[in-house]
Amino acid sequence: MHSLERTVRLSILPPPDRARVAAEAFVNGWAGVPSPVGFGVHAEITVEVEGEPDPTSGYVISIREIDDAVREAGLPHLERAFDASFRATRPDEVADPVETLVALGRDVSARIDRLAGRRRVRRIEWRLSPYRSFTIFFRPDPYMPPTVERAEISVECEFSAAHRLHCPELDDATNRALFGKCNHPHGHGHNYRIEVAVRIPPARLPFPLAELERIVDETVIRRFDHKNLNVDCPEFAALNPSVEHIARTCHDLLAAPIAATGGSLAHVTVWETGKTRCRYPSGGG
Ligand code: NI
Repeated sequence: MHSLERTVRLSILPPPDRARVAAEAFVNGWAGVPSPVGFGVHAEITVEVEGEPDPTSGYVISIREIDDAVREAGLPHLERAFDASFRATRPDEVADPVETLVALGRDVSARIDRLAGRRRVRRIEWRLSPYRSFTIFFRPDPYMPPTVERAEISVECEFSAAHRLHCPELDDATNRALFGKCNHPHGHGHNYRIEVAVRIPPARLPFPLAELERIVDETVIRRFDHKNLNVDCPEFAALNPSVEHIARTCHDLLAAPIAATGGSLAHVTVWETGKTRCRYPSGGG
């Protein structure tokens, strides 16, 4: 089985701009079609299709078929949700993003000819910004109507902290050899990024994103932000604060409060620098 992923970039435009931008035919497909001019809101929709490649073309699916399905069957859902939400005067008139994505996903999935090559839409992700994304997974059955198996919400936050990598059970020379400059006696700082991904069963939708961000803030950010992990945080009193241990500690702290919401923590990723990150558990758990 192969998995093909295609990211479609598009813009949700103010209603008067929709026909104009289409008529002017902006052609920067890299930046998004429709083009993100004026107050257009950028969106990225990634579609994962599983299947076997056609023996002649080598395609699981033509990417043009995905692009057309997202723009013609999916974009109207985003436009309707934005229109309703930005005109809303009451909270109950604001569209829910995950419910919007579920409706979009059903129509995009139904639009794709799934029986050709027995392929199936497995996953559709809506990346609202570099720091938030919603994903829905469909049941892997090409012969049934598209049915949502679960949703996943991912949020990214930041905290700044100092640490020192040092194991008291080892002598100083061994610590210096093992951890190099990270063993400096007075510590050093990082701007840590943390991504928290939560699985939501269909029965728990719509899931309040604000609730998830509150839990991450109260459970992890306030606990570790602007602290010396070795000195100020009992979690690391006897645990070397490597990025691996920080990721697992954040996971273990978040699991229970997230479970209390009806979701389940899928995985936590912590970036120590832009080049080094650790995900726990690996593979999404
Ligand atoms: Ni460090």
